Amino acid sequence: MKFNFKEKTDLSTVVLLFEDEKTNSSIQKLIDKGTFKASKGKVISDSFAEKPTIYVGLGKKEKLDFEALRLAGFTAAKEANRLQLKELYVDIPVFENLCYAKSVSAFLEGFLQSEAVTDRYKSEKDKRSLEELYIKLNKDSEEVQRAVKEMEFVMQGVASARTLVNERSNTMTPSVLADYAKKLLEPLGVELEVFDLAKLKEIKAYAFLEVARGSDEEPRGIIMRWKGNKNSSDLTGLVGKGLTYDSGGYCIKTPGGMSTMHTDMAGAASVIATMEAIARNKLKINVTALVFACENLISGKAYKTGDIINSMKGTTIWVGNTDAEGRLTLADAVYYMASVEKPNRILEVATLTGAVIGALGYITTGVVTNDEHLANDFVAIGKESGEAFHILPLNDEYREMIKHDEADLANSLRDVGAGSITAGAFVEHFVENIPWVHLDIAGTADGKARGYLPSGAHGTPVKTFYYYLKSLSK
Ligand code: BES
Ligand code: ZN
Ligand code: ZN
Repeated sequence: MKFNFKEKTDLSTVVLLFEDEKTNSSIQKLIDKGTFKASKGKVISDSFAEKPTIYVGLGKKEKLDFEALRLAGFTAAKEANRLQLKELYVDIPVFENLCYAKSVSAFLEGFLQSEAVTDRYKSEKDKRSLEELYIKLNKDSEEVQRAVKEMEFVMQGVASARTLVNERSNTMTPSVLADYAKKLLEPLGVELEVFDLAKLKEIKAYAFLEVARGSDEEPRGIIMRWKGNKNSSDLTGLVGKGLTYDSGGYCIKTPGGMSTMHTDMAGAASVIATMEAIARNKLKINVTALVFACENLISGKAYKTGDIINSMKGTTIWVGNTDAEGRLTLADAVYYMASVEKPNRILEVATLTGAVIGALGYITTGVVTNDEHLANDFVAIGKESGEAFHILPLNDEYREMIKHDEADLANSLRDVGAGSITAGAFVEHFVENIPWVHLDIAGTADGKARGYLPSGAHGTPVKTFYYYLKSLSK
């Protein structure tokens, strides 16, 4: 969709309405009669008119936030497509107590959210008519346009994450993922290095290679470097879980549980997409991202329950469950990041546990951290960007729960509970005391359509990653 910052009043128009504020437009009659209520996400249009007006509700005035504006933009775009409009005009008012540039960006983000591809595998493609939106700004035009351009680049990243996650495991293998990252990121100035099996053996990625063993597809390590500030030694490390398929291995999943496991690389997709967003926006920061990608399958070579395996760090691990494979791949990835790249902080993201869905459902990403201050900063930025996070507790009692009597650690133990916390505690063992935030996106990476999010992959948490990393450049 093209955004055109020009007044063009001879088009169909979007009018934004508060639930608790009278307007002098003709819609007020319907509101007075109770036919229409301008609550969040509600829309009505005079569709018989030659140039219909689209009225979108924002909810209560004092409760207005960026999230309501995103939903309003999304709702307006959906209605415009239903009316088969090609062009649309909107005059975006200045809202009290909200930064104008951020308000406009949020509202326009909603329009871009409406463009998410959900017909990838359908013979009949979605028909969307809306091509161009004319916008009247009422303040700081240049600054606002800059923020909108930035948001458009971030949304390109979000779209890439969604594309990667929605692709199925028969086409999205570890080597395809590596090639995709290379083709996407190198032209944007991101340096990329791909580790093949021989190199992964050389760096002693033992735990990761145990998981990868059961598959005929070769694993890959993908390391991506954005050096946006050569005058600074500050470095952030991003690590994403990259299981292009998780069958559970010998602890095989149910057919229902397994059918969505092409999404088990959503963490990897989100860090690749974040690199895209920061490179497109040329952020003045240094970021290194790492993905260890493989498949968790069953074969004569696959690892088994009861095995005791090694890791890059040298920590031995008793395999209590071959379906708790994510933490094994992350153990080596995070250890490599911590010990070789030595960043100032590590943000690690994974579709790690079903337990996080039990705790937080499909709405909120579970957070485990060794640095509350870092995690609080991150969560606060999530609030602005419209992604929900909740910090789970981590202390020595949980850390004790992952110990084993015959090996140093266990990847899974029966009847201890707190599945998302103990999974986090396991990964923590390998971060070498570097400030670290773990994001469990098992519930939030994909799912049904919700609010302005499409069905399938959601692109979580690319927006928050981006705006958090941007906050480091100030
Ligand atoms: N990839 C799954 C977690 C998952 C579950 C992601 C549902 C998305 C939706 C992970 O590898 C897994 O299977 N975890 C196990 C761990 C358990 C065996 C300790 C789980 O959560 O059941
Ligand atoms: Zn698993
Ligand atoms: Zn998994």
